[in-house]
Amino acid sequence: MTLTTPPPAAAPAPIEQVGVTIDGIEVSVPRGTLVIRAAEQLGIAIPRFCDHPLLEPAGACRQCLVEIAMPDREGNLRAMPKPQASCTITVSPGMVVKTQLTSAVADKAQHGIMELLLVNHPLDCPICDKGGECPLQNQAMSNGRGETRFADTKRTFAKPIKISTQVLLDRERCILCQRCTRFSAEIAGDPFIDLQERGAGQQIGAFSPAILGIADDHGDDHGDGATAGHDHVDVLSAAASLASPEGPAELDASGQPFSSYFSGNTVQICPVGALTGAAYRFRARPFDLVSSPTTCEHCASGCAIRADHRRGVVLRRLAGDDPAVNEEWNCDKGRWAFQYAQLPDRLTNPLVRDEVSGELVEASWPEALSIAAAGLRAATTSESGVGVLVGGRATVEDAYAYAKFARIALGTNDVDFRARPHSAEEEAFLAHAVAGRGLGVTYADVEAAPVALLVGFEPEEESPIVFLRMRKSASRGRTHIFSVAPFVTPGLAKLNGRLLACHPGDEPDVLLALAVGSPDADASAVPVTAVDAASSAVREPGAIILVGERMAGVPGALSAVVTLAEATGARVAWVPRRAGERGAVEAGALPGLLPNGRPVADAAARIDVAAAWGVDTLPAAPGRDTSAILAAATSGAALVVGGVDVNDLPDPAAARRALSASSFVVSLEIRPSAVHEYADVVFPVATVAEKAGTFVDWEGRPRPFDAALNSPSLTSAPLSDHAILDELATEMGAGIHCATAAMVNAELSGIGAWDGRRSPAPRVSPPARSLSSAGGVILVTWHQLLDGGRGQDGDAHLAGTARRAVARMSPGTAAAYGIDPRGHVRITGIAGSLEFPVLIGEMPDGVVWVPTNSVGRPVRAELGSATGDLVSLSAAERSGSTVDGGRP
Ligand code: SF4
Ligand code: FES
Repeated sequence: MTLTTPPPAAAPAPIEQVGVTIDGIEVSVPRGTLVIRAAEQLGIAIPRFCDHPLLEPAGACRQCLVEIAMPDREGNLRAMPKPQASCTITVSPGMVVKTQLTSAVADKAQHGIMELLLVNHPLDCPICDKGGECPLQNQAMSNGRGETRFADTKRTFAKPIKISTQVLLDRERCILCQRCTRFSAEIAGDPFIDLQERGAGQQIGAFSPAILGIADDHGDDHGDGATAGHDHVDVLSAAASLASPEGPAELDASGQPFSSYFSGNTVQICPVGALTGAAYRFRARPFDLVSSPTTCEHCASGCAIRADHRRGVVLRRLAGDDPAVNEEWNCDKGRWAFQYAQLPDRLTNPLVRDEVSGELVEASWPEALSIAAAGLRAATTSESGVGVLVGGRATVEDAYAYAKFARIALGTNDVDFRARPHSAEEEAFLAHAVAGRGLGVTYADVEAAPVALLVGFEPEEESPIVFLRMRKSASRGRTHIFSVAPFVTPGLAKLNGRLLACHPGDEPDVLLALAVGSPDADASAVPVTAVDAASSAVREPGAIILVGERMAGVPGALSAVVTLAEATGARVAWVPRRAGERGAVEAGALPGLLPNGRPVADAAARIDVAAAWGVDTLPAAPGRDTSAILAAATSGAALVVGGVDVNDLPDPAAARRALSASSFVVSLEIRPSAVHEYADVVFPVATVAEKAGTFVDWEGRPRPFDAALNSPSLTSAPLSDHAILDELATEMGAGIHCATAAMVNAELSGIGAWDGRRSPAPRVSPPARSLSSAGGVILVTWHQLLDGGRGQDGDAHLAGTARRAVARMSPGTAAAYGIDPRGHVRITGIAGSLEFPVLIGEMPDGVVWVPTNSVGRPVRAELGSATGDLVSLSAAERSGSTVDGGRP
């Protein structure tokens, strides 16, 4: 099996160099280099607006005009008759370029273009959000006339248009560079904005799929059973059916909401103030802001982020520039979901449960630490012990401190970061294939892979930068994408991906069929031809398998992934949903794993870690996982809970019962949570902007960051989880030496890589099961990017761009249960019911899909059901259209 070792790299083809002269300086650059880039290499800045290094050249603004001469066949230098756009012309041997620095013609041309651009520009810099950081403002000063000669009435528009709840468009500022439209079409695959009208009336507007006559939801049948969405129509169709946002947008003549998870990038790359974000509009001037680099805390993509703050308050976040990871992009959640850290209910002081009133009351740090230490110390001597639950927001340093606290201060391996559905098979998979492997499959590998197989992983929803990188490669025809899933999602359609459709729970059968090259006809819904195509594709050198955390809930799936990798040589990457999960694996926040992939069951591994920690021994018995810890709490075990959302747990109702029955609960949190109803002591913790730390992205790449700010709105500097655990351990008489991130990192690197025996691969056979959904419909569910997650609290503008929560089912399923395709359905699980608007789409009969945690509809909490469980369907009384892109 090839889990992380890349295939031998072919010798790169030599790149032909081309010699050119720019402003009298000779330079040699690779063939195909744009003139504007060659000039950059000499430090010559040619003014530009539409040019962007990650977008295809457009030549739209004409600001980059230069004089160019090239040798003819006889070698005589021939000047091109007019100035040329340097952002669209590539270098050629012997080319001579004169920029504005050496050519009066180029300089005059650039001044002329600038003057024309400003004819209709409002010059409202003093009230424009872009003022102070505006390429038009700057280049008007450097390459424009000092005074205007235009004395007529300027073009005006009604303003602003809300093309989504988050993005506003002031059309009179637009210079028609088309960066926004090109980003949306080329990069995000969401071509919902484009140029409209012509001549002086030309403007940016949102496109309506309905106007294009393509509102139905369908994929394209290849005749081999694999389904693909493969053109503009399919993309818009799929997106229209599922991706319409929740919030209203103001419509122009032909407009519809700008429906994209990546819309904030258009705000960032707009070279004027035509596109602005509602959350930041009119809030600050750029020169009043302090910019700090940080890392996004929302998913495992690992985006570099720039946090702009003023007087200790973050006012906006922008995508950072990291070519190896997020290039220059991020998703709207990473850009705008930071208000949660600044809400009025932010915890600022420790709380303890008052014995008389039974309420949580503020306490001093010494008092809270003393009570927590006493409670936990007592619990460690009880039969049921103490368990430690760590949420997905933890940095490596925090997760390490939780793991070490459990083992040193509590004397147990009962620690688990998986505050979501999990399994012993998953832990074995992580121990075997993920922990201690370092940098494995990378973004560059994704971009170069000829084939990518997605297993229980929806990249646009669960790791958006993986999605962008896959789309970049797929749209250039480089990567062929297959997905083992129940239906073609909008994201898969935009990846031009092919679906290996299967019922929830049948993923192992499909994977094992791919491993042997033919399907088990009894077990798989996937036709033989589709399996054959995917099976030979995944054997291509460089093929990768990206498996999502959801497969922990499907017995046999992760074992089948290993089997498939062994059979094909494809490399495997595990892509968790939360930012802290990969780091928590490395930190040893699992019942059977110590730091850097050392198995708890291995005596040599324990000796290694005990030596590093300065103790004689470590607990040897494998610990309990999240579910077992909660089950023990039901019998009175104490709990230490850090950043866990109860609704994310596999069985929220059981978790509440466990918290209620637990003998003692210590919570470390940013804001009040459901855990606090049962907590005896609550410690306030720092957010990502307030602390230094490290996330490890899905690749295994460390993403360290420093504190962006220390908020003066807090009564004392907030402490990281690891610093609080350090204090608590000291109070318990068991130092863990995790006071600072630097201490943790020094210790973690001192422990070093594990060169002992690696945990064996999981070998769980898929359970014999019937595909029959008699007695109900099989539920399948996964998270959407924007949902009811607490990290998105506080930004109504962002919430309005979330995709609508719908229940998706096949026409046959709807007919079988008497569900109105344009109505609502009531879904009933073992704990209760939820109602959703219906979305009819192609997918297996007897299956219904809903988003896991849409606002007001937490599926696990309300239904008590998870993927693979049977639920019942009935018609609900509310009615509304969801098949035509309208909102219910
Ligand atoms: Fe360019 Fe901004 Fe106009 Fe889009 S809105 S075309 S990014 S100036
Ligand atoms: Fe070259 Fe716009 S930057 S045409």
